[in-house]
Parts: sequence; structure tokens; C-alpha cells
Amino acid sequence: MLFPIAIIPQDDASTDAPREKMNMQDYQSYRGLPSLAGLGSLERAIQCDWSVQESAKRWKRLHFVFKRLYETLTAKITAEPIYELKTLFSHHAYLCSEQVSSIRRRVGEMREPPLGLDKVPHPGLERLMDEIAAAPTTNEFLVGIYEVVFPAILVACQQFKTDAHPLADAPSIRIAKLIEFEIDEVHRLGEQSIACLVDRVQRTAMQTWIDCLQQCLRAAGELDGTATSDTSVPDPMHSRTPFVYQAEPRRDERFQDSFNAGVNPEAFLYDSRFSARDKTLMMYYKRIRELDVPEMMASILVEIGDEEPWDFHAEMSRQLWDEARHAMMGEVGFVAQGIDWTKIPINFTWSRNLNTQLNARERHGVLFFIEQGLMPKTGKRYEWEVAMESGDPLSGLFQDFDWADEVLHAQIGRRWYVPKFASLNEALDYGDRCWSKVLSHWRAYKEQGLTEHRNWWPEVYQTACGNWGVAPDPAALAFDTTYEESRADLKEIR
Ligand SMILES: [Fe+2]
Ligand SMILES: [Fe+2]
Repeated sequence: MLFPIAIIPQDDASTDAPREKMNMQDYQSYRGLPSLAGLGSLERAIQCDWSVQESAKRWKRLHFVFKRLYETLTAKITAEPIYELKTLFSHHAYLCSEQVSSIRRRVGEMREPPLGLDKVPHPGLERLMDEIAAAPTTNEFLVGIYEVVFPAILVACQQFKTDAHPLADAPSIRIAKLIEFEIDEVHRLGEQSIACLVDRVQRTAMQTWIDCLQQCLRAAGELDGTATSDTSVPDPMHSRTPFVYQAEPRRDERFQDSFNAGVNPEAFLYDSRFSARDKTLMMYYKRIRELDVPEMMASILVEIGDEEPWDFHAEMSRQLWDEARHAMMGEVGFVAQGIDWTKIPINFTWSRNLNTQLNARERHGVLFFIEQGLMPKTGKRYEWEVAMESGDPLSGLFQDFDWADEVLHAQIGRRWYVPKFASLNEALDYGDRCWSKVLSHWRAYKEQGLTEHRNWWPEVYQTACGNWGVAPDPAALAFDTTYEESRADLKEIR
């Protein structure tokens, strides 16, 4: 149907006769095609109750909450003992950092510089996030973020989609939709975790605190400030004692003998006497042991805080999450091989020693030095070649992506760490020196009775050979090199 711009009455064709106003309902797109590029209806688009100011105001609130979530989830990784939560927090901290980045970009597009993103948008939101950071137990922390904060974010996104002008603020609505999509899954995973860990009695005991969190939101007019505030900001409960980051890594009860450094997998991996297939076991061990990298990286991010710009955090958070993924690749590898990884001592003294002996800049130096060392032919390419040769396609797949991730990490280091030095060599030397001054405490841990540095390799190797239906290689079975005299890069400890 043709679109009549103005309807001229039949009985009066004079040019100066009054024109009738078009009826909105009569307006049609060409042959009924979706109008406004699919953004919404004309009826909605003629409404004008939205502004750049309102849009930016709501984004700043969401930005504040996501940034605090990123910081808090990151800060919990090191001392959270439960492996599944350590990796979940690594994932969710990264997802929150991604939302922070998209919101910052969007706010920057809305005539907002200076962005004012470092301002606290409402004291109620600040109290809410302080309370959650200070939650004294894992269970309270889980309930606080996954039952209060993430649902409030989802409500704010839905409200944003309803209120924002679909045409004028389409870029914002797209971001609100993407946030909702990712955070909906985050929320569901949190709820599943709570169902596994928090019982009715524990929940009842934390009800007063949950009410306090809800009051923070009500005082703020809800997360996005669209409701009328009907109460005051509650007094602090848990945050009376402010959150203090725990730098010492903790592991759950499945991790046995974590001080054990009685097997040096790198020494096995680079020994040409051993077969590629046998080496995949050591690579799965190296992968699952990487759980210590998120534990260590979290300490860098917490300690450096606002000394570095947001993009540093965004990229490092991605790297931290990759390292958690690498650890889970090791877990999957062992399960696929029919090997119970909880019988293997998964060493955590690298993150423990670095977190307690070095400052954040020194730790970053060690991280860069190690990752840069993974790039030459003997590093990640070698691991991938071994995996491809081994006849274990899963190991091949994991090493393929592990290598790709490590190339990305070396680039992140070149962007954020190397420019602080006059040259790449100086940056590498500094990292090497920092690593050299870390005391491994190999003998001290033994003397203190923390470990016997038991050689766990023959047992794991024999189990694997049994599963493969092959006889163990006597030379591989006899492997007995520890970390007493060398580091993971096989450099001698002086
Ligand atoms: Fe890694
Ligand atoms: Fe890495």
C-alpha cells in the first residue's frame, strides 16, 4: 500500500486548503518490511523520553558495579580453596571485565569526556559492593553476588532495553542485550553453585545480611537509579572490617601434598630418550599445575590496582582466564586418560613463593620472562609437536590452543611490561633476576615436614600404561629428577 503523505479532500483541490494530519496507524513501510532496520516500531520511536544524559547516567552505575565485581572476583581467586570456584571466579571476573570495556567504550561515545567513570555513582552501591567484597565466607560471597548483584544487573539491562530510545540509542541497547545474554548464564551458574554448597540453615543465618544488601539497592533507587529511594544506606555489617586480599594460595581437600616438588616434568619433556606418548602425561600435569598462574596473576592485578589504566586490567584478566582454562585442559586430559588427578601432588609453591616473596612488578617480570621463554622452538611449538606425534588427539588439540593463547600472552606482556624498560633484553633480564631471587624452599619444606617430595611419577605412569595396554618403558619408569637443583626452565638453582 502506498504511503499517503497528506490526504487532499476530493471536493476541495485548492492549494491553500488545510491538509489533514496523517494517521499514525496508516503509516506503512514498503510492502510491510521491518521498519527502522529492525530496531523497533514507529509507535515506540516517536516517543521522546530519553536522553544522552540519562543513558550515560545508567551506564555509569552499571560500570561501577561491573568494575567492582571484576576486582572482587579477581581478589578471591587466590585464597578460594575450591578448584571449581577458583576457575569459575576466573571466568566470571573476565566476563565482568569485558562488560566494563564495552560500557567504557559506549560512554566515551556520548559526549562524556572526561568520562567520570571513577566516581562512585551512589553510596548505596558502594556499600553493597564493599559488603560483598568483605563477605567472610565463600557461601556468603556466592549468595551476595549471584543472588543479589547479578539479578539486579539483569533487571537493569531489561529496564534499559525498555526505556532507551530504540533508534537514537541503538548502540546502547545492543550492549544491554549482549550483557544480558552473558550475565544470564553467569547468574544461572552461580545459582547452581549455591544449590550445591549452601544449605537452608546457612541461608537462614545470613538473612539479615542479605536484607542489608537489598537495602543498599533500595537506597540507591535500585542498581540503575530508576526507582524511588525509600530508605537510607544501611550501616556496614561485614565491611566494618574492610576486605584484605589473601596472597597465600589455598586448595581444597582433593589437592594432596601441594608442596611436593619431587618431579620435574620439564626435565622429562626435553629428554629425547622418552616417547611422545609418555610425554603427554607430563604435559597434562604441567597444564593442571597452571592453576597457580591465576593465583599469582590475581595478586598482580590486586596490588597494581589503579596504578595502571583499565586496558591493562582488561587484557590481564583475559590472560588470567586463559591460564585457568589451561589448568582445566589438564584436568580433562587426565580424566580422558582414566587417571585420577587427585592422586597426583599438584604443586602450588610457585604461586605461593612468588606471592609472598616478590612485589607485583617483580612478579609481572617473572611471568613475562617465563612466557617469552615459551615462544622459541623449544617452548610451545615443541609441546604441540610432541602432542601431535603422541597419538593422543586431545593433547594435540589442547596444545594447539595453549600455544595460540601463549602467543597472545607474550604480546600482552610486550604491550604492558616491556615499555617500562629501555629494551626487550633489559625487560627479560629483570624478569630472570626476579625469578632467581625467589627461594624455592625445596629443602626447607621437607625439613618442616610439609612434604617428602615423593616421586609420584612411576605410579601415574604405570596406571597410564595399564590403561593403554602397553608395558612401561624401563627408562621412563626410572625417571627421578626433582626441582631441587633446577627451575622450570631447567636453569640451575644457585
Ligand atoms: Fe598457560
Ligand atoms: Fe600464559
